[in-house]
Parts: sequence; structure tokens; C-alpha cells
Amino acid sequence: MSLVPVLKVNNLSTHFHTRYGVIKAVDGVSFTVAAGKTLGLVGESGCGKSVTALSILRLIEPPGKILSGEVWLNGYDLLRLPSRQLRQVRGREIALVFQDPLTSLNPVLTIGTQLAETIVSHEEVSRAEARRRAVELLLRLGLPDPERLMRLYPFQLSGGMRQRVMMAMALSMRPKVLIADEPTTALDVTVQAQILAELKRLQEELGMAIILITHDLGVVAAVADEVAVMYAGSIVERGPVAQIFDRPAHPYTRALLRSVPRLDREELVPVEGQPPSLLNLPAHCAFLPRCPQAGAACWGEKPELREIGPGHAAACHRLFPWAG
Ligand SMILES: Nc1ncnc2c1ncn2[C@@H]1O[C@H](COP(=O)(O)OP(=O)(O)O)[C@@H](O)[C@H]1O
Ligand SMILES: [Mg+2]
Repeated sequence: MSLVPVLKVNNLSTHFHTRYGVIKAVDGVSFTVAAGKTLGLVGESGCGKSVTALSILRLIEPPGKILSGEVWLNGYDLLRLPSRQLRQVRGREIALVFQDPLTSLNPVLTIGTQLAETIVSHEEVSRAEARRRAVELLLRLGLPDPERLMRLYPFQLSGGMRQRVMMAMALSMRPKVLIADEPTTALDVTVQAQILAELKRLQEELGMAIILITHDLGVVAAVADEVAVMYAGSIVERGPVAQIFDRPAHPYTRALLRSVPRLDREELVPVEGQPPSLLNLPAHCAFLPRCPQAGAACWGEKPELREIGPGHAAACHRLFPWAG
């Protein structure tokens, strides 16, 4: 496989300085995504997935601060690009579908106006052509009666519809990289499957790389090529989707997989214990208090991601007792 990484994230750290202490929301995250491929970014709620996405586009606001890292796209480090250039890259080269779509739609403009404006601002097409394309995209994303939808305002839409409108908005710019943050959570299972299938088709058409953020491992199994598992602001395991599902190495990944309902198993086993507070994280492995495999080495330094197979890495002392 000769996969060209289109987006490369190196050692990204974003912290929030609050009066209670420092929240290490993202702490030394690195990954790459190849053109035409999908990376599934998974982990329990609060582990830093959304902050990772926002950091990549430099959309972090105080009290948050990106402390370190590089985000390479097209030979540019987005974290160091002048703001004016960065604005040109956003949307056109890399687009983010936010987890909460209401905050990112303009409340006083109709869906049609917003979609058409987005298209016209990125491409030399007439307004009529832009509207025609917008209708087609809405239809492809499973929205019934798109002509009527174009005349509505964001508040008149359900959460699920707004999510799909945001998706249409992002896709209409034909970005090289699409980051979709929990894009199907507000949708019922049938619509979810339809959107994921359509996303796959558009990905093939455009050669787009996708980072799909979700807490739903079923979604990841269905669409991802690679998986990165996040825990307490760090990636604890990453690898090809088949490896992660067939041979999960990190105790947290194993626990997550056990918590997924399956046809051959009635019981759903939740991951034991509480997700950690990202406030004042310990110096050792953050999973230690919940880990069924914990041993003496785990009280040492926080384990780093290490290669355990081709393209497969995990951060766990118990897998590398000699390195602990
Ligand atoms: N504006 C903010 N101020 C303070 N803490 C924040 C802010 N945004 C996010 N966080 C914290 O960062 C951590 C990661 O959040 P987030 O990335 O939204 O998690 P996820 O998307 O994985 O559910 C959480 O502990 C959250 O409380
Ligand atoms: Mg989130």
C-alpha cells in the first residue's frame, strides 16, 4: 500500500487554563490521514475528540490554548499559517462539520441562501447553478423535499436535519480533508446508514480524506480504514480497522470493544469505572485506575505509543514490559 498522507498531525497539545487547574484536553496527539481514506477517531465522551478537531483548524478560544504541535496540509503547517491564508484554507482545503450544528449556521439566513453563498464564494458558478447543486447535495444526503428545505431557516429544522445541512455545506466546497464530528448521532439508524454510504461515494468521487469522530464503534467498523482510540487527551492505540477490531492490544480498546452490542452476545458490558477528569491528570498512564491488567510498571511514566505491528501502535507498559 502506498498511501500518501494528506493531513499530518504531530504532537498536538491543547490545554484549558481554568481557575480549578489545567485541563489537558489534548495532550501530544499525532496521526496521519491518507487521501481517499477514513480515519475513525473514537473514545468516550470528554476524551478530547472535539478539541482535537477544533485545534486542527485553529478554532480554539480562550481559556483554551494550543501549546504545541504541527498540522501539515499541502506543505503548510496550519498552526503557523498567517490568519488570512488560514481563512482561505478553511472550507476549501479542510472542512469541519461541528458536533453542534446550530451554533455554526447563520440564524437569519435561509438554508438555501447559506448553501448557495458557500458554493459561490468558492467556485465560479452562477447563483442558479449553485442553488441547483445545493438541492442535489441535500437530496443525496437523504433530505426529503430539498426545494422546500432551501426556503427554511435553521431553527425550523430538527437536529438531524441541521447536521445533514452542515454536511452538505462542508461537502459543497469539495475539501481535500473533511472532519466530521459525531455527524450521525442525532439520526436514526436507517438515515445514518444512508449518510455514511453517501459520504463514502462522495469520498471516492473527490478523493477526500475523512476524519470521522464518533463514540460509536459500529460506525467506525462500517466506514473507517484506520482507527485512532483516544483516552484522556491522548491516543492510546491506532492501526488498520481490521487489526483494531480483531487484535485490539490496549486494555482500553478491549474494554471499548466489549461494550459494543453484538448479535452473538446479549450482554452489553460497559467500560468499568469512570472516565478520568482531564483536570490535573496524573503523570502515569491515565487508564491505570480502570485497567484490569495494571501492574507495577504502570505507576511509572505515561507510556508512549509504540509500534506493535505494521501500522499498528499502542501505548501500554504491559505490552512492553521490558520498556516500562
Ligand atoms: N471551552 C472549554 N473550557 C474548558 N474546558 C473545555 C472547553 N472545551 C472543552 N473542554 C474540556 O476538554 C475536554 C475534552 O472535551 P471534548 O474534546 O469536547 O471531548 P469529546 O469531544 O471527546 O467528547 C473535556 O474535559 C472538556 O470539559
Ligand atoms: Mg465531542
